[in-house]
Amino acid sequence: MAEKHIPVMPTETIERLDISPDGVYVDCTMGFAGHSSLIAKRLKGGRLIGFDRDPDACAAAKERLIPLSEQNGFKLDIINDRFSTLSEALDMLGVQGVDGVLMDLGVSSYQLDTARRGFSYHEDAPLDMRMSQKGLSAYDVVNEYPADRLRQILYDYGEEKYAQGIVYGIERARAEKPIATTLELAEIIKRNVPLKVRREKNPCKKTFQAIRIEVNSELDELKSGLDAAFDALKVGGRLAVITFHSIEDRIVKNRFKELCTGCTCPPSFPVCVCHKTPRAEAINKKPIIAGERELIDNPRSHSAKLRIIEKLK
Ligand SMILES: C[S@@+](CC[C@H](N)C(=O)[O-])C[C@H]1O[C@@H](n2cnc3c(N)ncnc32)[C@H](O)[C@@H]1O
Repeated sequence: MAEKHIPVMPTETIERLDISPDGVYVDCTMGFAGHSSLIAKRLKGGRLIGFDRDPDACAAAKERLIPLSEQNGFKLDIINDRFSTLSEALDMLGVQGVDGVLMDLGVSSYQLDTARRGFSYHEDAPLDMRMSQKGLSAYDVVNEYPADRLRQILYDYGEEKYAQGIVYGIERARAEKPIATTLELAEIIKRNVPLKVRREKNPCKKTFQAIRIEVNSELDELKSGLDAAFDALKVGGRLAVITFHSIEDRIVKNRFKELCTGCTCPPSFPVCVCHKTPRAEAINKKPIIAGERELIDNPRSHSAKLRIIEKLK
């Protein structure tokens, strides 16, 4: 299963995490261990703690990482849970501080391409979209949420300007019978956006993204995860985050900016009264994006942005 996801910006990410062989690293989003195995190859006696809320990903990562941990003598912990539980998990493991944390957000190619997981608008499958394979599903959101809440989700998490029409279509369809599959939903979306939009590109992307974010509480996860990850870092430790759309990138950019900002007194104040000092330093002033070769080889890299900070004293 390892080939089912090509890691995005592998060299750029691993180089900037500046791995020490005996360090402690957390991969919050192990997936198929693409990035994790690159970290693992640089470890000698250190520790790698990997999270994924998807049991399929944990099984695949385990298969790939156990031989590397035996070969390189590092300690390996694989945790099938949300990365927002990082602080509790580190406490349980007795880990005081870590040297680096990676978050490669969103879903893996395996999750997207496995039709039965219900993430794809290209193949018919039950409306699911649960990374963890448990809890609230896309079926529940689409069929049970009130129209105004659905509309807000499409605006906020998909930046879908045709949310009004799409939700109107959903309301009419579900009044007759539940919307059960991905292609049923895709058809409703197509019928309720202007013809011009339908002709230009697949109009389902934004609605599917918005519903997926809601189902998996992705933005709350990200906000809590960023704080937990930063708290877990030792001084000099690094946090690297790869985002895939503007909504999550904005959250990372703003949080990193807050952490890297010192005094917030108005310029008119003769002396600083807030006494705030920066808690982190940006490793890259601008987000890193994929190079030309990778853009050709790995279509997932197109929207990716990598941001990295280092914790200061
Ligand atoms: C883009 S993939 C990571 C791919 C991985 N870096 C690799 O190279 O194979 C994202 C993974 O993170 C997991 N994930 C997303 N949000 C999560 C969360 N809040 N907690 C734990 N895992 C999460 C998904 O289940 C998915 O397997």
